[in-house]
Amino acid sequence: MSEAMWGGRFAKTTDEMINDFQASISFDKRMYREDIAGSIAHATMLATCGIISGADRDAIIGGLKDILAKIENGEFSFDVALEDIHMNIEKRLTDAIGDAGARLHTARSRNDQVALDTHMYVRRETVEVLRLILDMQRALIETAKKNADVMMPGYTHLQRAQPILFAHHLLAYFSMLARDFERFRGVYARADIMPLGAGALAGTTFPIDRKMVADALHFDRIYTNSLDAVSDRDYIMEFLFAASILMVHLSRLSEETILWCSREFSFVELDDAHCTGSSMMPQTKNPDVSELVRGKTGRVAGHLMAMLMTVKGLPLAYNKDLQEDKEGVFDAIDTVKFSLAVYARILRGMKVRKDVMRRAVEEDFSNATDLADYLAKKGLPFRKAHAVAGEAVGYCIEKKKWLQDLSMDEFKKLSPLFDEDIREAILPETCVKNRDSLGGTSNAQVEAQLAAADALVAEEEKETDGLASKQVNVV
Ligand code: ARG
Repeated sequence: MSEAMWGGRFAKTTDEMINDFQASISFDKRMYREDIAGSIAHATMLATCGIISGADRDAIIGGLKDILAKIENGEFSFDVALEDIHMNIEKRLTDAIGDAGARLHTARSRNDQVALDTHMYVRRETVEVLRLILDMQRALIETAKKNADVMMPGYTHLQRAQPILFAHHLLAYFSMLARDFERFRGVYARADIMPLGAGALAGTTFPIDRKMVADALHFDRIYTNSLDAVSDRDYIMEFLFAASILMVHLSRLSEETILWCSREFSFVELDDAHCTGSSMMPQTKNPDVSELVRGKTGRVAGHLMAMLMTVKGLPLAYNKDLQEDKEGVFDAIDTVKFSLAVYARILRGMKVRKDVMRRAVEEDFSNATDLADYLAKKGLPFRKAHAVAGEAVGYCIEKKKWLQDLSMDEFKKLSPLFDEDIREAILPETCVKNRDSLGGTSNAQVEAQLAAADALVAEEEKETDGLASKQVNVV
């Protein structure tokens, strides 16, 4: 008989190389808290339902708490021969307390156990991600408020397009993050379903109480189908999808940060403490964080693809392929959390070059739309007004002037509809102030956006605190 916990029907022990290949302990050990909390809830339920004795329950709980302390103090040695976190803990427990430990796995399979642990782990980490999204949103609001009067060219095709408020630009990212928050809130809801009690796949012959376990572990819902309970990895795919979109958002912000702090733009300056230099070129100051966030985005999206492909084509119920669910999502969790945390720092340390941005607005034709709008408001059909404004720009390029440099005579030659008030109409301040349509860049609209952002953040904060208080801590 093999020594393994499932060794009864085996005549040989597992080949060492095969064991190294199939073991998951190197990465699933990070779920030790969830595994112990889950086992405590399971043992408590087994005793309440008369499946094990109260004495066994107490011995199990005491033994598991000892193991928890050992792991946290670094005194627990994980054994790859025991495959995974579940069997490492159960074996150590049984070594310590004997038969009571050997009764813990009654009415349970590693298939529903690993599902339970991973649900709890992803659920907890999702709350951490929500918290960090929230802080990033706060950093955006702070930066927007600190630079409330800063104007910049808004871009299309990376060509200067129309003047906007810098705060307006930042608040676009706030809105993206607000959707990310919603998406992760959805991930949380799908992780918050309790799989334990599914057994290996078909349920159990013991008179268990799944509701009791769900309540003890603060789960909102219980899987209604035992096959689904052990096979479902939707919440992991959803986490990876939400994480991928979030990273794409951070990556776009990174790309803009990298452009903005290039000499060519010089719109912002990053804190020295947030950049590195070159080992050869003494003058360089590099936006590494932004580049790395942009770079890591591919990796997170890769984890999403990997998971989709792993689950695609799997027959029900558990297959060992599903063990591949962990490394990707663990790495995505670490990457997303780190990226959000460093980016909030980058924003808070960023110096905004108001004068340079202002010059970029003035020394350009980003007020050409306003010139056309002016004529349209005087009755010229917009298409025709657009043509006149285009002509004006062509004329200016030839004469090496800006629109605001044209004399009244030159304006009149372009169209008799021009009057003295054209000067005011194409000032950058006017261009911004007049874009007062809902969601536009006018000072009033941006102020309204900021007020709404403040209110949303307060709401998200309450929600996050509520979810955090639902997480299970073993003490
Ligand atoms: N380490 C396994 C995993 O992560 C646990 C479940 C194993 N179940 C089994 N029947 N081999 O998926």
